[in-house]
Amino acid sequence: MPPSAPVSPAHGEHSDPALSADPKPNGVELPGDWASWLRTQQAALNHAQQWRQRRVQTSEARDFASNDYLALTRHPEPARALAAAAAELGCGAGSAQLLGGYRSIHRKLEERLAEWVDRPAAALFSTGYMANLGLITALAGADDLIVQDKLNHASLIDAARLSGAKLRRYRHNDMASLRRQLTLPGRRRLLAVESVFSMDGDLAPLAEIAALAADHDALLCVDEAHALGVLGERGSGALSAADLGAEQAPVVVGTFGKSLGTHGAFVAGPQLLIDQLVNRARSHIYTTAPAPPLAAATLASLELVQREQWRRDHLFSLIDAFVRRAAELGLPLSPSRSPIQPLILGDAGRALKLSRALAAQGFHVPAIRPPTIPEGTSRLRISLNAGHQPEDVELLLVAIARELEQPLQASRPGDER
Ligand SMILES: Cc1ncc(COP(=O)(O)O)c(C=O)c1O
Repeated sequence: MPPSAPVSPAHGEHSDPALSADPKPNGVELPGDWASWLRTQQAALNHAQQWRQRRVQTSEARDFASNDYLALTRHPEPARALAAAAAELGCGAGSAQLLGGYRSIHRKLEERLAEWVDRPAAALFSTGYMANLGLITALAGADDLIVQDKLNHASLIDAARLSGAKLRRYRHNDMASLRRQLTLPGRRRLLAVESVFSMDGDLAPLAEIAALAADHDALLCVDEAHALGVLGERGSGALSAADLGAEQAPVVVGTFGKSLGTHGAFVAGPQLLIDQLVNRARSHIYTTAPAPPLAAATLASLELVQREQWRRDHLFSLIDAFVRRAAELGLPLSPSRSPIQPLILGDAGRALKLSRALAAQGFHVPAIRPPTIPEGTSRLRISLNAGHQPEDVELLLVAIARELEQPLQASRPGDER
């Protein structure tokens, strides 16, 4: 495999505007002190090694970055379903779900999703971010208590803030800390967790969490973004793997942009609650319905996810090989047994340098830095997928071990999170 070519700035990219003194960026003069404020902000980010840029990704790089855990983004069946639905139904829904944008393909997908995660009903959203925003703001408000794991995804945290409810965050996976937070006063309590944590890859202790939620009359909402497709029978998630049904964990959130390899999201739960979302979730109501061809592609993808167990088997054999070999090489891995394998380096500059050194050798492994993760825990987020072969894993690990043994070259500002 050739090393990835250096990428030259394309439209929309710029090397380091924080350092540019151009008084009229792109010939546009911003009013008041906007330009100088923006420059100060960006210079501070650059100084803290937190300046980010998008880069056009080349397909030659070995991808250890995506959430395409079952390697379905390029599968021909969803692509064919998408093309056929676009020809028959058009590319876009044309209006919001309550105003005519809701089609039979949406309803069919919702029914299949509800059946998959074994919850009574489901509602579609355009993204997982919007699903979490809609779910939590439609359920909680001032006087309510929302309790969340400290490492929950930004969409769950933002949703709680937007709801106006009292938000309390417990120490990651710490059940004593969770119990303390759940005893705080509140009109109603909502407990939101991820089942597989997006930046750490570890699992929440779901059975204990569900028991604590029940003890404190808290409504448990589980974001299964990184577990669906990967864990449980037919990929039906971590709750199903832990044998936790609708009684213990009534609300499930799932996204299509990860294992399903498409785009969009859903919330599944009791019909009473889904009806509330349709009536009250602003990110469901005030937005165009998901594109019907995408719903068709997701349906095709869901069938593959359920049918092709070999994808999960292969993925887990890669995870085992990765963990074993990383230990042999003395790499500082975390206790994750999911496709997400973080290599925590601490310092943002160190993570960036390693990411860059790997990119030069043809591996795409992003450095993840604050504010996406807590200060001092910058890392490479290595994610495995069913499209990898054992030799890909071996090559990556050997490259990392070699790089960590030697002082790395100075870094440039990068595109990582
Ligand atoms: C746990 C979790 N929830 C929600 C989301 C948002 O999903 P989407 O990318 O569909 O907006 C993500 C993805 O980044 C995630 O990791």
